[in-house]
Amino acid sequence: MRPLFVRALTGTLALAATGGVAPLADPVPAAADSVVVGGFPVRVSDTPWVVALASRDRFGGTRAGQFCGGVVIAPTKVMTAAHCLSRTVLGGEVSQVRDLRVIAGRTELTASDGREIAVSGSWVSPAYNPRTNSSDLALLTLADALPESQVIPVAPEGDQAYVPGTAATVFGWGDTEGNGSYATALRAAEVTILADRNCQTAYPGGLSGRYDASTMLCAGDPRGGHDACQGDSGGPLVAHGKLIGLVSWGSGCGKADSPGVYTRVSAVRLP
Ligand code: ARG
Repeated sequence: MRPLFVRALTGTLALAATGGVAPLADPVPAAADSVVVGGFPVRVSDTPWVVALASRDRFGGTRAGQFCGGVVIAPTKVMTAAHCLSRTVLGGEVSQVRDLRVIAGRTELTASDGREIAVSGSWVSPAYNPRTNSSDLALLTLADALPESQVIPVAPEGDQAYVPGTAATVFGWGDTEGNGSYATALRAAEVTILADRNCQTAYPGGLSGRYDASTMLCAGDPRGGHDACQGDSGGPLVAHGKLIGLVSWGSGCGKADSPGVYTRVSAVRLP
């Protein structure tokens, strides 16, 4: 297995194995106040398209089995990261995870409000490359439909929302410190769309991974402190009220010189 993939998945695997203690692959700690790192609490009623992917069988019940994020792009379609459905994360084929659920309308994972909807099918982008994490996008089909009011539009290619300098927000129930402190309530963090050059410099290949501008999007806080983190994967990056990215990978969390890498949703062909 290549180092990039190990790093991208460390948190999720650690979460699965220990219920929360994620050894950081990188020795540099995240900023102290650092969804999500450097985030703030949000209510899912205000952002009803944010959902959690969950399996109590695979990940235990303390946080309702949450292991990744997702986003509602049609009443019966949830978009997430392809790596969230990998054998490495799930410990087996997605079709074997009998209790795979999408949790919608629940801010606090330990509560029982909202809906847990069964997944009736899944599609992984044929362009997904697990070695490089390019085209890290998958779709889940829901057994029951959500209302149209819970759907967020996807920004098409060329939309202003992708332009570097744009303010964006990332959502998730992931690690809030970069040390295995998984949130139980939904959080968000404000980040900025960065030029591809920023991520090309940070991730030139080799141990730190390689940024591929054709299917990835670079976003973060050039001063550090605001970022997605382990457990946020598959969750939405939103700008101008539209979906532009999915949490995919990064080196550590919230480090000034290591931006977050997101799936550029407009770049991946849907079925
Ligand atoms: N691959 C991680 C996951 O499965 C997401 C990492 C995002 N990291 C970052 N620094 N933005 O949850």
